[in-house]
Amino acid sequence: MNRLRTQVGIVGAGPAGLTLGRLLHRAGIEAVVLENRSRDYVEHRIRAGVLEQGTVDLLRELGVSKRMDREGIVHDGIYLQFAGKRHHLPMRELTGRSITIWGQTEIVKDLIVARLADGEPLLFEVDEVAVHDLESERPRITFRHEGEAHELACDVIAGCDGSHGVCRPAIPAGVLSEYSREYPFGWLGILAEAPPSSDELVYTHTPDGFALLSLRSPSLSRSYLQVDHDEDLGAWPDERIWAELQRRTALEGWTLVEGPILEKGVTGMRSHVVEPMRHGNLFLAGDAAHIVPPTGAKGLNLAIHDVRLLGEALVEWYGSGSRALLDAYSETCLRRVWRCEHFSWWMTTMLHRLPGDDPFDLKLQLSQLRHVTTSEAAATMLAENYVGLENV
Ligand code: FAD
Ligand code: PHB
Repeated sequence: MNRLRTQVGIVGAGPAGLTLGRLLHRAGIEAVVLENRSRDYVEHRIRAGVLEQGTVDLLRELGVSKRMDREGIVHDGIYLQFAGKRHHLPMRELTGRSITIWGQTEIVKDLIVARLADGEPLLFEVDEVAVHDLESERPRITFRHEGEAHELACDVIAGCDGSHGVCRPAIPAGVLSEYSREYPFGWLGILAEAPPSSDELVYTHTPDGFALLSLRSPSLSRSYLQVDHDEDLGAWPDERIWAELQRRTALEGWTLVEGPILEKGVTGMRSHVVEPMRHGNLFLAGDAAHIVPPTGAKGLNLAIHDVRLLGEALVEWYGSGSRALLDAYSETCLRRVWRCEHFSWWMTTMLHRLPGDDPFDLKLQLSQLRHVTTSEAAATMLAENYVGLENV
């Protein structure tokens, strides 16, 4: 057994783990990041694409925004389409803030390059990761890397290992309260070599279900269709996907541009939160602690917000010896988590075809959509949540 020592052991090299590593390095705090997948895998896993201003600001502060500042696309609004009409929601006009379109994969690539350039430890393809002695002053992580067994002694462990990681399940039974909601549908997502057909994202409510038009760059479009939660991708040849997208986004005088599909996948939808986001010296961050359905574009932004708070708390503790921010970490995070949980659930239930096709549900959805596209107060409520609330 090879024995190692660090200050903060970070499990997971997704956006949460890598951003935390960067924050700590900039403050002179040592960390080791352990990732069970390969570098190539984590750099190509297509996920989120909408960044709140707070996320953009943090990436700038951390010196990893050069490509994002050059190639990221700023959007000042979104479209909501229902009952055959497309309505513009001018988010910047309503809130003073915008969103930036920049892929999670690109953020991850830049954070990896920065960490390796700094010579900071980041191990890919680690196996058998397990966390121990969480309630002690010296929690440990054991793992195998390149055929050798290692034990990493830490002051603190950051569980940034996503929803299927090992950190959350290592917390003893009875400690965590869990809150969840399953949705009986999922999203079929595609990345296509086609210029985006709309200048801003389009969220559509149709009798056949939800669709979303998004993008990654001026030549790459990203689109989603509501499907069953366990939909078989084999039943969706490219022609069927385009036909369904055409049908659900159709508008007179406007055309959806098609192109070769480069990637496709189905994601189930779930809301899930555990409380507290801490046990002893294990701190959970990002998807390891909470999942939102993607309709509000919040998952990545929440993960980054968590580690901003965790980073600040660790800097205070190492700097002044005060554990006040660490002790407040879970409660402070959970305020924003629950705001985003509500917003994501609300957007999801307003825009998707719901099980049972209850006509009462449909009338409520349409009334809600009309309200957010005709009342400035209601539109502002949606917009301020979408661009990211300040002070939550
Ligand atoms: P993750 O990105 O999941 O990172 C966790 C990391 O830990 C991974 O690299 C994983 O390989 C690693 N890991 C897991 N177990 C171990 C272990 N035992 N040891 C070491 N490492 C481990 N959000 C949106 O806003 N819009 C979207 O379109 C969108 N699409 C999504 C599609 C999918 C399929 C998924 C799963 C999520 C999607 N999300 C989306 C949510 C968003 O991508 C996540 O909220 C975000 O990735 C959270 O970052 P994270 O760092 O907390 O977790
Ligand atoms: C995306 O571009 O992947 C995306 C955009 C908005 C969402 C979800 C996903 O709400």
